[in-house]
Amino acid sequence: MKVTQLDCLCVILLHLLHTAGSERFEVLGPTDSIVAVAGDDIILPCYLKPNISAEDMTVDWLNLDFLDERVFRYQNHRIIRDDQIPYYRGRTSLFEEELWRGNTSLKLTRVQGTDEGHYKCLIQSKSWYDDFTVQVLVKAVGSKPVVSIEGHREGGMGLLCESEGWHPDPELVWLDSKGVHLSARTLETHRDFKGFYRVKQHVIVQETDTNHFTCRVQQKRINEKMETEIHLPSELFDPTPWRMAFIVLCCLGAIIGIGLSLAIYCICYKKGNGEII
Ligand SMILES: *[C@@H]1O[C@H](CO)[C@@H](O)[C@H](O)[C@H]1NC(C)=O
Ligand SMILES: *[C@@H]1O[C@H](CO)[C@@H](O)[C@H](O)[C@H]1NC(C)=O
Repeated sequence: MKVTQLDCLCVILLHLLHTAGSERFEVLGPTDSIVAVAGDDIILPCYLKPNISAEDMTVDWLNLDFLDERVFRYQNHRIIRDDQIPYYRGRTSLFEEELWRGNTSLKLTRVQGTDEGHYKCLIQSKSWYDDFTVQVLVKAVGSKPVVSIEGHREGGMGLLCESEGWHPDPELVWLDSKGVHLSARTLETHRDFKGFYRVKQHVIVQETDTNHFTCRVQQKRINEKMETEIHLPSELFDPTPWRMAFIVLCCLGAIIGIGLSLAIYCICYKKGNGEII
């Protein structure tokens, strides 16, 4: 593209406009990402350098990972709640008593999974603007896995393992008593409305020496794991017909026994004219 005289003029004019206000500033914040534990309250630091007042400026906090990115807006000395991402409703504030010294840090309460992302602090005066972006990582350790027995499946015993409340999404492994990975069905991952992950996975196990099986749910980024061990009695693996028949017979026997004793008791009671013999 050819640079015309008009372009030059525009650039010069813009430059003049910028410098005219003489309130040039830089927006600064932390260079390291912020690791937030789910449920905690956190501060996303952001401030002006030099530390001039931000009270007459527009302060925007945006989450760049959302399409409609508005997390918070302060403009004309007021908090503007229009167009706020619904996830942030009632959970964001500025330290308004700190604005006069250029502190535009954002307070975010009750951190949840959907809060992970890149946050831009954008500050605009009438003649100048600058921004700073900080990354927030959310860490949540989920529940101890719940293992349930699903019964006989394809020549083995079907087990199901479930765990919820994780962030980021964890992996799940099934292990036998020697720590050998068992091949399982595909992992099912769901995300709840607060952005936490729930995982579940089915496995079919065969009888072993010990019949101990472990479901481990782990998240390597946050270096956390939770596991549950289950022991299956070997009778569970072997429901041969005679064994079933034996159980049924035992039950029947017990019922008949109770019935008989009741009958005898009644007869004796009647004979004895109300006196128990
Ligand atoms: C602004 O910064 C200067 C030094 O950079 C410091 O002396 C002064 O106390 C600060 N003012 C406020 C209001 O924080
Ligand atoms: C801004 O104010 C908050 C709340 O008082 C404080 O925790 C934070 O350190 C302040 N940041 C700066 C840069 O002064």
